[in-house]
Amino acid sequence: MPVTTSPIDATPLPRLPAGFVWGASTAAYQIEGAADEDGKGPSVWDTFVRRPGAVRDGHTGDFACDHYHRLDEDVELMRRLGLDAYRFSISWPRVLPNGTGKVEPRGLDFYDRLVDALLGAGIEPTPTLFHWDLPQALEDEGGWLNRDTAHRFAEYAAVTGERIGDRVKRWITLNEPFVHMTYGYAFGVHAPGRALMLDALPVAHHQLLGHGLATAALRAAVPDGQVLIANNCSPVRLRSDARSDQDSAAASAYDVLHNRLFNDPLLTGSYPDLSAYGMPDRSWGGVVREGDLAAIAAPLDGLGVNYYNPTWVTAPNDPAALLPFDLAEPEEPYQRTTFDWPVVPDGLTELLTGLKDRYGDALPPVTITENGCAQPTGLDDRARVDYLSGHIDAVARAVALGVDVRGYFTWSLLDNFEWAEGYHQRFGLVEVDFATGLRTPRASFEWYRGLIASQRS
Ligand code: BGC
Repeated sequence: MPVTTSPIDATPLPRLPAGFVWGASTAAYQIEGAADEDGKGPSVWDTFVRRPGAVRDGHTGDFACDHYHRLDEDVELMRRLGLDAYRFSISWPRVLPNGTGKVEPRGLDFYDRLVDALLGAGIEPTPTLFHWDLPQALEDEGGWLNRDTAHRFAEYAAVTGERIGDRVKRWITLNEPFVHMTYGYAFGVHAPGRALMLDALPVAHHQLLGHGLATAALRAAVPDGQVLIANNCSPVRLRSDARSDQDSAAASAYDVLHNRLFNDPLLTGSYPDLSAYGMPDRSWGGVVREGDLAAIAAPLDGLGVNYYNPTWVTAPNDPAALLPFDLAEPEEPYQRTTFDWPVVPDGLTELLTGLKDRYGDALPPVTITENGCAQPTGLDDRARVDYLSGHIDAVARAVALGVDVRGYFTWSLLDNFEWAEGYHQRFGLVEVDFATGLRTPRASFEWYRGLIASQRS
């Protein structure tokens, strides 16, 4: 194993409660490679990356981190890191190449081996069933615009639960339905590359319905399992120089589309009012059917929260604009990641206490299922250590304020395929040379290892 730079001292962090789960996250398309091996069917990402101009420099996930062939090496890295749990995603088209019907045993075998390797290393497998790589065959039938996809998702959850549910006890259904709807179906900058703007809204409901139906399927297949969902959440902020009523209305409107649309139905059994977005009534013109919300609001064992940064908004400049807000830049001189995202750790405390204020006792225990940052290539990633340390401290502050947070999974274990940015954004505790596959732990790896060890001692 290559030697890393020396560990970095960071501010000592408060101790999180006993049993707090320390983890790291990845996703199938971003790390596995082996895009058409062992009977895997194509996903929407296999298609999208071939669209000219879709991904920076034409990068694809065909090879990615080659995790499919380096599973043991990667689990060894995790063991060395001292992880309690590893969040990965299962590629739906590896398990069901057409999204439904015929099961590919070699696909399931891969996850079976991964689960056994993790358990052998004392690491709890925490799979996500859908991290955006929909089987292309289902996209050809309308993808998540088609209600039937929700039922196919439950079928896939049952097949997977029956195969590995004897050993896998913590499951995550969907990853960030907000981002998938917005980037994939509203703006078209992610797969499947549709630019439908507000006509993408049924994608929210069909994903959430899929979550509800998959939850029931998992409860049947894994009666002693826990089921979570990973929602991307962003506290909404106004600039200090813009506090008119219109600005406040813009902030509420943004909050509805980014946060409440995906949390309210899960935790309260109803959607926020979307009449301003072309959804005239509670049934969204027939999209939301009798019984759907009850399925979606089935009790969760935990809410997964992915946090990167707050969102600043103002009232729209153009009163005739389609959306009732404009995105804005903060005036504060925040540090920036290489993605140009502002580094705002206190946004995570604000987010967690805000969830508690909004949902009260309906909020199940929270797990941070993603948090991390893109930094320049190189092993001495002091800025990543500062980012992680600041955000973990922000979690500890939320816990001290009474929010029940049970775990923290950093994004990401490895540098990987960062969607439309290809291999240009590096989120890993471990640097990956994409030409050779060589993994080299960064200083942040050693820092996180030390943090986990000290929190346990
Ligand atoms: C996604 C990850 C992604 C990360 C950084 C999250 O929205 O779940 O797949 O790599 O953000 O952009």
